[in-house]
Amino acid sequence: MLGGRTIGYFLGGLVVSVSSLAFSLGGSSYGAEYVGNSGCKCHMGKGCYEGEEYKERLHSNTWEKRLKGTPDAENLECLKCHATAVGEKIAEAGKKYLPNVQCEACHGAGSEYKKLKENYQGKGKDAFKEILKKDPIEARKAQYDAGLVVAGINGPATVKEQCLKCHWESKDDKNKCPKTDKVMDYKEYFKKDDHRDNDEIDDVIKKMSPDDKKKWAALLPKDEILNSPLKPKKKE
Ligand code: HEC
Ligand code: HEC
Ligand code: HEC
Repeated sequence: MLGGRTIGYFLGGLVVSVSSLAFSLGGSSYGAEYVGNSGCKCHMGKGCYEGEEYKERLHSNTWEKRLKGTPDAENLECLKCHATAVGEKIAEAGKKYLPNVQCEACHGAGSEYKKLKENYQGKGKDAFKEILKKDPIEARKAQYDAGLVVAGINGPATVKEQCLKCHWESKDDKNKCPKTDKVMDYKEYFKKDDHRDNDEIDDVIKKMSPDDKKKWAALLPKDEILNSPLKPKKKE
């Protein structure tokens, strides 16, 4: 079963981090399908992720801008970095890929997570929100069990490795775009792309007991970014 979970882009790190956190590995997430950005709409409104602002980002329109209407529009060699879910299970019938670098390119196939948010344990649409407030640690586990990708937990060992799937730090790197030599400056790039929010769950964490705070910290992988205190971006 574990093998199924590692299919896709995100290899390594998984077995070690999951078992060391003693998560229960429910079978449900293995069949998760890619639902596309519209499936992530809880996060697309003002106040959470970027909403309209997201559409301005390079990730969100890189297929349209770089490949659409060119002979490379369907070129798998290009789609692996300029699109999402190439060769994976996509919910919408007949699709071979989702254009652009969508949420699920980094956060994993979302269908199981979406179900959980819509009807957690069969208790209706507000149940998951409630559990986020009452027991964020339980909520976190449920998210991970549904296959939500966070670097170091369900995914590559670090956020940087996650980026290096499509970016490169040296001009000699083999995993590189044939159309540009521009290298990634990781810290700069992360800053530009940082969209961590400061929502209900972050408020709950602040109020946790020292013991629970420790448990919470144990749920985060050792990563220079993920271990840094959550600093929400100021909305200009
Ligand atoms: C390994 C991942 C990867 C592959 C494979 C890849 N690209 Fe890219 N591409 C990128 C990234 C990342 C950038 C932006 C680099 C940056 O700004 O740091 C980019 C930038 C571009 C640009 C803009 C270049 C410029 O002048 O700024 C074009 C056009 C492009 N890619 C087309 C293609 C085409 C066509 C293919 C297939 C033949 C392809 N890419 C394959 C990752 C990739
Ligand atoms: C290029 C990779 C990438 C893409 C694309 C991406 N994210 Fe993220 N996202 C990250 C990373 C890295 C983090 C920080 C690590 C973490 O908290 O998971 C993050 C964090 C988040 C968080 C905060 C999680 C928390 O618990 O604080 C939310 C919410 C989120 N992303 C939603 C989205 C949505 C919605 C989209 C699509 C519109 C999206 N992301 C697209 C990489 C990405
Ligand atoms: C699925 C492939 C993919 C992944 C994973 C990915 N990127 Fe990208 N990224 C791209 C592509 C393609 C572009 C080029 C967009 C364009 O110019 O068309 C890009 C462009 C960018 C840019 C804009 C560059 C500029 O000069 O403005 C930033 C910033 C960026 N990525 C940050 C990140 C970070 C940080 C991560 C890891 C958390 C990441 N990316 C992961 C594919 C990816």
